[in-house]
Amino acid sequence: MTLGYQEADGIGDSMMFNEVWPLIDKVDGWLIESQARALFNAASTCKSPGVIVEIGAYKGRSATALGFGSQSNDNTMVFSIDPFKPFTACSGMHIRHDSYDVFCHNMTRLWLNEIVNPIRATSEEAHKDWTRPIRVLFIDGDHRYEMVKKDYEMWVPHVSKGGMVFLHDTDYFEGPKQLVREKLADVAVERYNNMVSFVKE
Ligand SMILES: C[S@@+](CC[C@H](N)C(=O)[O-])C[C@H]1O[C@@H](n2cnc3c(N)ncnc32)[C@H](O)[C@@H]1O
Repeated sequence: MTLGYQEADGIGDSMMFNEVWPLIDKVDGWLIESQARALFNAASTCKSPGVIVEIGAYKGRSATALGFGSQSNDNTMVFSIDPFKPFTACSGMHIRHDSYDVFCHNMTRLWLNEIVNPIRATSEEAHKDWTRPIRVLFIDGDHRYEMVKKDYEMWVPHVSKGGMVFLHDTDYFEGPKQLVREKLADVAVERYNNMVSFVKE
């Protein structure tokens, strides 16, 4: 299949990810190494028009992978959309604290604060004024079916041709899992454990 980004084929590319992985891995969150690498590669090589957007930022683990990727490409902006408020996930897991300050602190200490921009809003609120094309989209917010479906339907139309879409937690959570079954049954997807990606045609 055609990938929207070049695979990290040279030693240079993979060394670059290997250099930043220990820094990404110090940021609290759930993204595993292969997923961080895929986000990094997309952000570092995708040339489609537009910015990078993630829905669901928490303390900045995926934002760090996307931010470092962008830094090794053309410094395109990363927008990290999250209310950053205490949150009960559909797994029943409680995020008890506001994570905005930790997110900003992580971006500042990693020198990513000029690339990664937090938008303190729900996906729906942020979408109301959104007009920009997107080259890499990562959906990892509210995993309830109606919510992840809404995220998909609101944001995927903004992704440019050849841009990349990533969906997290597509194995363990019924919402993203059902969405993948419905929307991506006939689409060539790449899988990174419980994350799926595809190229927008
Ligand atoms: C699984 S965490 C995201 C993890 C993050 N991508 C990382 O790699 O560390 C889910 C996040 O989605 C956020 N969230 C919940 N509902 C949301 C909504 N409607 N719009 C945007 N973000 C939302 C929560 O506040 C929480 O921080």
